[in-house]
Amino acid sequence: MAPPKRVILSGMRPTGKLHLGNYVGALANWVKLQDDPDTLCFFMVADWHALTTDYENTSAIDSNIEEMVIDWIAAGLDPKKSVIFRQSWVQPHAELNLILSMITPLSWLERNPTYKEQVTELKDKEISTHGFLGYPVLQAADILLYRATHVPVGEDQLPHLELTREIARRFNFLYKRSTFVEPQAILSRTPKVPGTDSRKMSKSYDNCVYLSDDETILRKKINSMFTDPLKIKANDPGHPLPCPENPTGCVVYSLHGVMEEPPVEYGARAKSCADGSLSCRPCKEDLFKRMDHYLKPIRERREKAKKEKGLVQRILVEGSNKASQVATLTLNNVLHTIGFPKHEAAQ
Ligand code: TRP
Repeated sequence: MAPPKRVILSGMRPTGKLHLGNYVGALANWVKLQDDPDTLCFFMVADWHALTTDYENTSAIDSNIEEMVIDWIAAGLDPKKSVIFRQSWVQPHAELNLILSMITPLSWLERNPTYKEQVTELKDKEISTHGFLGYPVLQAADILLYRATHVPVGEDQLPHLELTREIARRFNFLYKRSTFVEPQAILSRTPKVPGTDSRKMSKSYDNCVYLSDDETILRKKINSMFTDPLKIKANDPGHPLPCPENPTGCVVYSLHGVMEEPPVEYGARAKSCADGSLSCRPCKEDLFKRMDHYLKPIRERREKAKKEKGLVQRILVEGSNKASQVATLTLNNVLHTIGFPKHEAAQ
């Protein structure tokens, strides 16, 4: 069999059940990628990465992994098509992380914009740790172990990917061998998904529509969304053009835009909202129907997957074993390159 033209690796930190923003922004893309016959996909539960910020309390890690992987399956990730694995179960991640940390200048890590941002944002957590500063080194190890040619990520991850490329280049230069492949980003060009309060959908804002939300919860969340403040009574005309980018704009309208592909009646909706012929109640009902239709197949697969006892563990064991085979080959190659080959008799 010919080797695949593209190797994809991506991962998520296990923070529990996933929301619509995770699906639209990442997961839906992953599902599409796994169907390309020229592509080999690795999808990773980044549990070591979760430890960089949540090292103090690890009691939720197992259930967070379970919920997240159930959502992956519900969204359509298929262990027959993709390698789905758990980072900490594939030992070469930790070992390559160590090796790469030897060659990564501190200044590269300190100037990383994501790092600086997080340090200010997560003020209440003690994250001035070696592990947190080294987050992108571990991420580089994840990617380079599989010789990934492409990494689907959101824009916020671009600095990390750039660091991976720089680390790969430095390694290849230092040891005079092209051991590593420099990966490219696949940017998901998706609209920003607003949460129920019109800020970016995020667990920390408590404004999410979850893939697991049933119809009753979904309806409740949509009905409680804040709309155009000009539309107080049923047929009040609204702002001329509700703008999804405007933070005070109507979240119901923005979500219609996220759900509708291609946006055929988006313009017509803006017009009838503005002239008062469409009031908020029916507009919310339309959104409910649309979202329910969109999320129903995911919800149904989720229910089914939840009933299969041990499913997630089985998928992760099998996937991690497959991933280990690939990762071990790369690691052995690296060890050889740096002059630390394992003795055949050493375990
Ligand atoms: N840092 C990524 C995030 O927060 C998760 C991640 C870990 C990752 N390792 C990766 C993503 C490797 C892509 C490739 O979302």
